[in-house]
This record gives sequence, C-alpha cells and structure tokens, in this order.
Amino acid sequence: MAETSENQFDLVVIGSGPGGYVGAIRAAQLGLKTAIIEKDPTLGGTCLNVGCIPSKALLESSEHFQAAHHDLKNHGVKVSKIELDLETMMARKSKVVKELTGGVSFLMRKNKITVFNGTGTIKTANTVVVIGAKGEETLTTKNIMIATGSVPVSLPFLKIDEKKVVTSTGALSLESVPKTMTVIGGGVIGLEMGSVWSRLGTKVTVVEFADHLCGVLDKECVEVLKKNLVKDGVDFLLSTKVTDAKVGAKAIQLTVQSVKDEKQSSLEAEVVLVAIGRKAFTDGLGCEAVGIAKDKQGRIEVNNHLQSSVPNIYAIGDVIRGPMLAHKAEEEGVAVAEFISTGHGHVNYNTVPSVVYTHPEIASVGLTEEQAKEQGLSVNVGKFPFLANARAKALGFTEGFVKIVADKTTDRILGGHIVGPRASELLGEIVVTMEFSGSSEDLGRSFHSHPTLSEVVREAALAVEKRQRQM
Ligand code: FAD
Ligand code: NAI
Repeated sequence: MAETSENQFDLVVIGSGPGGYVGAIRAAQLGLKTAIIEKDPTLGGTCLNVGCIPSKALLESSEHFQAAHHDLKNHGVKVSKIELDLETMMARKSKVVKELTGGVSFLMRKNKITVFNGTGTIKTANTVVVIGAKGEETLTTKNIMIATGSVPVSLPFLKIDEKKVVTSTGALSLESVPKTMTVIGGGVIGLEMGSVWSRLGTKVTVVEFADHLCGVLDKECVEVLKKNLVKDGVDFLLSTKVTDAKVGAKAIQLTVQSVKDEKQSSLEAEVVLVAIGRKAFTDGLGCEAVGIAKDKQGRIEVNNHLQSSVPNIYAIGDVIRGPMLAHKAEEEGVAVAEFISTGHGHVNYNTVPSVVYTHPEIASVGLTEEQAKEQGLSVNVGKFPFLANARAKALGFTEGFVKIVADKTTDRILGGHIVGPRASELLGEIVVTMEFSGSSEDLGRSFHSHPTLSEVVREAALAVEKRQRQM
C-alpha cells in the first residue's frame, strides 16, 4: 500500500461527473491542493458519457432525419432519397462524447488536479483509499467531496441486459432500429429517448403510472408536447403500471394494468426502455464506516452548507436531495469549494432551470402558477404564443407559448415556462432576471432584437400587465 506526501490533499473529490469535475476546478482555482477519483475509464460522469451529451447528440441527428422527411419540402428543398445510416449517427455521437470527456482530462491537467483512476472508498474522515488497476493507494485529505451521482432504478421482474431490456445507457447505443419499443416511464428520459427512436422509425408506446407526463412541469406546456408527440406517432398509456414481463427470444411481453380500474392487458415490443427514475449511488463508498447519514431514499443527507453528518465530508449533485440535473450538481460543486476555501458559498435553488429536449422543447424555471397558488402566493400570469411571432413563422414552427408567473404585489418574476421552438435557449434570460430579483416590467422594458423568438418572452412579460403589443 503506497502512502506518500504527494498523496496529501486539501480536497479529495470522489466522482468526476459535472458536479465533481467543476467543483474540483473551482477548488484548484481557489488554491486548494485537489485530487479527483473516477472508477470509470473516462472522466465526465453520467452527463458526458451516458447522459446529457450523447442523448442530445442523438436528438439533434434524429431531428435532422425527421426534418428531411417532413419539413424540408415546406422550405422548397427537395430531397429524393433519404436513408438512415445508424452506424454513422452513433459514431458521430461517440465522437462528440470522446471530445468532451477528453476536454475534462485536459482541464484537470491545466488546473493541476491529480486524477486517480479507481474506486474511492472513505476509510476515515481524512483518508480515502483508491483501488484501481495500479493497485491500492491511500490519500490523506483535509476535506472530501462526494460526487458519486446516480444510477437507473429498475423493476424487480424485468432484468436489464442493455440489448433488449435497456436503461437510457442501452437506448443510446442500439445497433439497429427496433420495429417497436415500449418505454416504461413518461418522464424526461422516456420522452427524450422515445423521441429519438420514434423519429428513426420505431413505433413507440409510453406507459406512465401517473395521469400526466413529466411530473411537476407546467401542465399546459406538457399538453402541447404530448399533442405533438402523438402527431408524430407516439402512443401513450397514462395511469397505467407494468406488473409483469416475459422476455422471449424475439420480443418482450409486458402485462400492464390500469391504475384506475385495475383492468389488465398486454403489450409486446422488440425493445423495452425502463425509465422510471434514478437513485443515488453510494455502493463501495464506505459511508457506513465513517457514519455518513442517508435519508430513506438512500441519498446522503446534507445541511445548507452541503456538509454531511461528518462535517469535513461534503456531498453534491445526484447523490443528494434536489433535481437530478447537471447544472445543479455543478453549482453545488462550486459552492462546496467556496465554503471550504472562503467560508461562503451559495446555490439559489429557486432558479434551477429544467429542460426537456423534445420537439417542441419544454424549458422551465421557478414556480408554476399551480405551485404559487399552493404556496398561498397571489400571482399575475402573462402568456404569449409563438403563433404571433415573425421569427417562428419564418422557422416554420409556431406551436407553443411563453408563460411568465409574477408576484401580484411586487411584480417580481417567480417562474417562467416555455414550450416551443428553441425553448432551452430562450429560458436563460428569465433565469438571469430572476437571479437579479427582476420584475416582469424589467423584462418587458428590455430591448429584444427583431425578428427573434426572444420577442415572445418579452411579450409574455408585457402580458403580465396586459400590455402585450403584437396580438
Ligand atoms: P454523475 O454525472 O453521475 O457522476 C458520478 C461519477 O462518480 C460517475 O462517473 C461514477 O463512475 C463516479 N463514481 C461513483 N462512485 C465512485 C467511487 N466510489 N469512486 C470513484 N468514482 C465513483 N441533466 C441535465 O442537466 N441536462 C440533460 O440534458 C440531462 N440529460 C440526461 C440524459 C440521460 C440519459 C441521463 C441518464 C441523465 C441526464 N441528465 C441531464 C442528468 C445528469 O446526467 C445528472 O444530473 C448529472 O450527471 C449528475 O452529476 P453528478 O456529478 O452528481 O454525478
Ligand atoms: P423521471 O423522474 O423524470 O420520470 C420517471 C417517470 O416514470 C415518472 O413520470 C414516474 O411517474 C414514472 N414511473 C415510475 N415508476 C413507474 C412504473 N412502475 N410504471 C410506469 N411509470 C412509472 O425519471 P427519468 O426519466 O428516469 O430520468 C431520471 C432523471 O434524469 C430525471 O430526474 C432527470 O432530472 C434526469 N434527466 C434530465 C434530463 C434533462 O434535463 N433534459 C434528461 C434525462 C434525464
């Protein structure tokens, strides 16, 4: 067992996802001697390797394929023979991933962060052991940041093989386009990955336990998305649960049951995607040895300073409470580095944006009208459709709207919800306005270039006081 002064650190980060690697960079910038441990062959965690990035690469490629079939002719562009080259599409996705994970390795070197390849196990509050290909190394450290992320939840009666019964990881790498796919779970992964394969020719059926898709997102936004997915050929079975499965050589037979009247039926598909949520990952971390407390869902418990029950051991990202989003993990990583180095760090959980990268996209921040009412807040709501926007007309996609939720008394923006073209990019200005405690009037009085989709955001802000100009 090697133990050298080289292996003494101010901060050891376990896990190199967006939370871990961004936190490590901030720590190094603040002068902390920092190490990062990663058990997988490449850095970047779920997000870069099997999450945000490959899924967005495939969503982009499949959208081009769909546009070539349906939309280009409306622009006067004739394409005579459209063929899918799945191998090239997948190779492009892998190239995007490789460039970005390589970029993280570069950033580690640039910031003089020591990378250890192997599994990190906490032995004491100041000792972490790395077990990797090189054997065992012991690191001593003043502080530890746990950033070990999450893994998919599975169903007890349906064994994942990542070929026919897949999680998002398998769904990102199918070798051929299945004729049929059942997606269990109508959340973000189900709709994004379901969209990819539906666009490429698979008949997709989504089975969702709840009576609506996408959990807590603005229901009106979700309805617009659902209508468009149905138009594109996706079927939905809401208020339905899967109760049993038989995996055959060619197909998987699922027994489904209506939550409302318990009526049973069966569904057959070539591939089943299980997308019913993710859970915190702490296997092999050694939490028990040092007494790190977890909640009922297995997440590491943290206080407002992101400290676990052991004060010099912090935890961030998917392994703790809150939305499982890359940018949330990043901000928490930065906050921990700042808490350790300066005593001050901050994450504004009221402005964590969330995007579903479907067609159309849904982008959302802060409170929905319903949530504001549940909290006893009086609000004004401004809404404006893309239908009345010149740029949306030029683009050829005019469905959807922007909705701004503002406090009735102060006019401070409490939430913004967009369904429509490029919603993900449009949301940014609402997030920034909220971060500066801005009002709908602030947004409505700000210049927006013409013609741009962002004018719809401005009009929705003006509509809060019924001052919209273009309709
Ligand atoms: P992770 O990214 O999960 O990283 C944890 C790392 O820790 C992993 O590399 C793991 O190997 C390593 N590790 C675990 N235990 C140990 C150990 N003991 N020793 C060493 N290493 C260890 N979020 C978005 O914001 N936008 C999106 O578009 C988006 N798309 C997604 C698409 C899919 C298909 C999936 C699955 C997720 C998506 N997410 C998205 C969620 C996002 O990926 C996560 O929220 C984010 O990766 C969490 O970051 P993290 O740093 O907490 O953990
Ligand atoms: P999710 O929580 O978004 O959705 C899971 C859905 O499955 C829920 O609607 C739930 O009601 C349903 N469900 C649960 N059990 C079920 C059952 N037995 N039968 C039928 N339906 C069932 O989780 P998902 O889609 O797996 O994604 C995991 C996480 O990854 C999300 O929390 C999200 O934050 C993150 N992610 C983010 C993305 C983004 O930001 N664009 C993209 C993909 C994932």
